[in-house]
Amino acid sequence: MMVEKIAMQAEEFRLIKEFVADSFGLVLEEGTQRGLAAKLSPRLQELRLKSFTEYYSYLKFSPGRSTEWQRLVPLITNNETYFFRESGQLSVLAQEVLPALKERKLARGERTLRILSAGCSSGEEAYTIAMLLLESGCFSWDWDVRITGVDIDARVLDAARQGVYAQRAFWATEPHLVERYLRRQDDKFAVRDILRKWTSFAQGNLLELADSAAGEQFDVILCRNVLIYFADQTIKRVVDNFGALQSPGGYLFLGHSESLSRTQASYLPLRFPGAIIYQKRE
Ligand SMILES: C[S@@+](CC[C@H](N)C(=O)[O-])C[C@H]1O[C@@H](n2cnc3c(N)ncnc32)[C@H](O)[C@@H]1O
Repeated sequence: MMVEKIAMQAEEFRLIKEFVADSFGLVLEEGTQRGLAAKLSPRLQELRLKSFTEYYSYLKFSPGRSTEWQRLVPLITNNETYFFRESGQLSVLAQEVLPALKERKLARGERTLRILSAGCSSGEEAYTIAMLLLESGCFSWDWDVRITGVDIDARVLDAARQGVYAQRAFWATEPHLVERYLRRQDDKFAVRDILRKWTSFAQGNLLELADSAAGEQFDVILCRNVLIYFADQTIKRVVDNFGALQSPGGYLFLGHSESLSRTQASYLPLRFPGAIIYQKRE
């Protein structure tokens, strides 16, 4: 089918930009109007809509709007990820945070560990954490460990649940870890059951996380390379949501180019060589 590119007026761009920021937190940068029109034109054609004003009304008011949101999200998100991304932070997790958590938990007679990969994309971060936990030797079979990956994009979650990756996903991973935790499947690599045992994936919007994960308390939240796409006021809302999901002493990891402003009083920055992480204040 021939897709005709439909022009987007400045006012239409403003409306869709506002809708996307309010609904998903994502900021559509100025200057991306033409590119967005090209990406969304097939959606208008399929829905038999004639303009982006009609598309905006469809997104806001149509009974089928939530299905359309699922179609829209993959067109505007960046899902780039790989195993062992930002290794400096992961070393801090393995060498400082996991032993500290273990000690604190055992002192309380607890053997549970809850980790959230917020904006998990296709699962590489969650499976990396599972590998780090296993490699650390801190948490044996009698610990109740759960690593939950949450993302707004259903398509990447399917890939996360499949857990089958091309070689390029491992460029930052030591070969012996690939060997130990993945098995060859044709020209790709599938995660072994030992990683799957601790990991699960769920669809969720970080703007509403306090609703969807209510009742959970996470010892560690990783939200890396997600907030760079959000506006400042949305970051505050998302981090407040994280605060509601962590007890004092819980750890928060952001991407290396993302930092919390001084106004985010509920988290204390902890500085390590090559990495800053955050801890929920007492
Ligand atoms: C660049 S990936 C980061 C993946 C991984 N955390 C990492 O650092 O490699 C960003 C992910 O955030 C997800 N995302 C964006 N907005 C979101 C939202 N409002 N709620 C949940 N996930 C969101 C995107 O779908 C995408 O998969």
